[in-house]
Amino acid sequence: MPSFLKRLLFCILVSIYPELFAAKVSIDPGEWGDPLGEECVSCHEKSSSGLTRQWRKSAHAEAGVNCLDCHKASVDDNDAITHEGQVIATIVSPLDCSRCHTVEYEQQKGSVHSEAVSIIENRLPALAGHVGGDAIVAAGCDQCHGSRVVIRGDGSLDPRSWPNSGIGRINPDGSKGSCSSCHGKHRFSKAQAREPSACVRCHSGPDSPDKAIYEASKHGMQYEAHRDEMALDSDSWVAGKDYVAAPTCVTCHMGAAGKLKANHDVGMRNMWSLNTPVSEKQYLVVFEDGEKMELPASQSPPKRGSEINKTDGSLGKVKAVATPKRRRQAMQLVCLECHSKALTESFMDQFDDVVKLFNEKFGTPAKQIMQALYSEELLTPAPFDEPIEFTYWELWHDEGARARHGASMASANHTWWEGMYLVGRNFYSRFLPQVKEVAGSERADTLIRKYVKSSDHHQWLEQPQRSNPILGYDVGRQADE
Ligand code: HEC
Ligand code: HEC
Ligand code: HEC
Ligand code: HEC
Ligand code: HEC
Ligand code: HEC
Ligand code: HEC
Ligand code: HEC
Repeated sequence: MPSFLKRLLFCILVSIYPELFAAKVSIDPGEWGDPLGEECVSCHEKSSSGLTRQWRKSAHAEAGVNCLDCHKASVDDNDAITHEGQVIATIVSPLDCSRCHTVEYEQQKGSVHSEAVSIIENRLPALAGHVGGDAIVAAGCDQCHGSRVVIRGDGSLDPRSWPNSGIGRINPDGSKGSCSSCHGKHRFSKAQAREPSACVRCHSGPDSPDKAIYEASKHGMQYEAHRDEMALDSDSWVAGKDYVAAPTCVTCHMGAAGKLKANHDVGMRNMWSLNTPVSEKQYLVVFEDGEKMELPASQSPPKRGSEINKTDGSLGKVKAVATPKRRRQAMQLVCLECHSKALTESFMDQFDDVVKLFNEKFGTPAKQIMQALYSEELLTPAPFDEPIEFTYWELWHDEGARARHGASMASANHTWWEGMYLVGRNFYSRFLPQVKEVAGSERADTLIRKYVKSSDHHQWLEQPQRSNPILGYDVGRQADE
């Protein structure tokens, strides 16, 4: 069917059955389907035909949204190029998508995801630069976090900063993120984005092994067995209503459940900071302009209407503050679609107890000892040039994060064997001996007595032992005989 006919049909259908079109589009169908876009399609049927064929299968092609509707640029844009007589840009940024999808754009705008570049920039020199190098930034970090896209003199994109579809990429128009990080181009499908695989290409690795955690959980088990009941293709996708077989990452972190609405801000329902040396509960501060910021619950929350510094240092007026409790309640609303209140709350207690255990037993003492070693100049100020710095970093960043993520998403394996077991092993058998190497045994003993042995969690070090399982359990004997 010629595309103008498709568009006409689309307009008619929208006006008769608006509910058929779940994706709410913020402008009128009359404002897209630029006839000049037909030329892009016909030539790109031959040149890079794969992407054109992907587009043909998309909801966009179905609705008559063509290449030019997305790639059109204004001559003033710093990444504008003249291409076959048209002014276009290669990058279609979240702001460009927002012309038609205002709601998703506004939600994504102030989210944790959109801060993924800012959050690493101050640590890049140490982690990427010292341990890795420039090539790692472009092909590693930026692929997940996003780059600051650099435009060369002729309007083309600098290969040191593109391609990537990093989740917080800073685009030439100043907007952050890239919608194609979850919605692969040029299909831009919502069904595909609901799959766990939309998240796991970034959420895998030592500090965010959420793919492995999910697969190892009962939720992953049920998803695997009942994938055909997940209604991934459905327009409406409400947990408890349209599907009940299992939750995916999206269900818990962004999906609709019962009365809870879907949201493109993945951080809203998370109460803790889990990827930190010591976890803290966090407020979510929402500013009038839609920007957001997290603050530790140990500080007193800002008042509505007051002006405070935002993440970038500029002043912002506080519109609303979500307490850690509210954020937890939102997450629990998801669980309650499939589980009882008792199971949900007891599970959360088990999770919170693991976080507290990590904090008290390992996170806080290790941090205090490291602070002492730095302030007494027993370590050089340069990060990552001494063995104990790697041990400490991995303690909270690798196995420490894994234990906490494992407990939050119900993988017993990651909570214990891949998580807290390694934390304990490395704390006792690497970290403490390395403190002695660095500080000498006398100073080390004082530090360990002050920060470690003073805590109930480590009393066992001083007590006579009833059993020793290290040699294994002999057949027919009790381990503690
Ligand atoms: C010119 C308007 C326009 C622009 C620009 C636009 N879209 Fe769309 N989008 C639409 C229309 C129309 C639909 C189809 C609505 C429907 O079928 O309910 C749609 C549907 C979608 C869907 C749902 C697809 C599905 O599987 O049902 C996604 C996801 C989406 N767009 C993402 C994007 C992204 C990402 C961008 C920017 C890269 C973008 N859109 C730019 C108009 C636009
Ligand atoms: C973190 C992954 C992720 C990112 C990034 C993302 N989306 Fe989505 N998007 C999803 C998921 C998952 C769904 C399906 C949600 C559902 O049905 O619960 C979706 C659905 C949509 C829909 C269909 C909404 C509907 O009501 O049918 C549109 C339109 C859309 N996204 C546009 C965008 C735009 C525009 C951006 C960039 C500003 C974007 N998305 C970025 C994951 C993402
Ligand atoms: C006469 C053929 C032709 C027409 C018409 C055409 N293109 Fe292209 N386009 C090409 C070729 C050839 C390339 C280069 C392909 C390559 O490098 O592999 C290209 C490259 C591109 C690129 C990548 C640019 C870059 O270097 O980053 C984009 C984006 C693009 N075209 C979009 C469009 C859009 C949008 C239209 C419609 C306004 C359009 N094209 C019309 C042939 C065409
Ligand atoms: C819904 C909006 C949308 C539509 C419609 C669309 N594009 Fe794109 N296109 C994008 C986005 C988003 C990117 C990714 C740019 C980036 O962030 O790197 C992209 C990238 C590209 C690229 C460069 C990346 C690559 O894979 O080579 C080319 C070429 C391109 N588009 C051509 C086209 C052509 C030709 C059409 C029509 C058949 C088209 N686009 C339709 C949004 C769109
Ligand atoms: C495979 C994708 C991926 C790569 C590659 C990657 N990151 Fe990350 N990074 C993530 C994800 C996902 C998180 C969020 C973890 C969480 O909060 O659960 C994250 C978090 C972070 C954080 C915040 C706290 C933490 O967990 O450490 C910093 C800082 C960071 N990354 C820096 C970097 C740097 C620097 C590089 C490159 C040397 C890099 N990342 C490479 C995906 C990646
Ligand atoms: C392109 C890479 C990428 C993709 C795809 C991605 N994420 Fe992320 N995600 C990140 C990075 C990087 C961070 C850390 C950002 C930061 O701390 O600012 C992060 C952080 C998060 C957080 C932590 C929020 C918090 O409170 O600290 C959650 C939850 C999350 N992502 C869920 C998801 C889900 C669910 C999906 C899939 C629908 C997804 N992500 C897809 C890269 C990605
Ligand atoms: C059954 C619901 C559920 C599923 C499924 C789920 N998560 Fe989570 N996730 C949680 C809960 C609960 C937390 C802890 C929230 C808090 O901080 O209170 C969490 C924490 C996280 C965090 C850590 C945020 C931080 O503070 O650093 C990330 C990242 C994350 N999830 C990503 C994912 C990804 C990716 C998937 C899919 C592979 C996934 N989740 C599947 C419920 C879920
Ligand atoms: C869409 C439905 C659905 C949602 C939403 C959901 N779950 Fe589940 N959950 C299941 C299914 C199905 C199972 C496997 C059946 C079973 O319990 O044996 C399961 C199993 C579990 C188990 C294992 C219980 C056991 O006996 O081993 C825990 C714990 C759990 N879920 C916690 C949660 C939490 C916490 C949330 C919310 C953050 C949540 N679930 C959200 C469907 C769901």
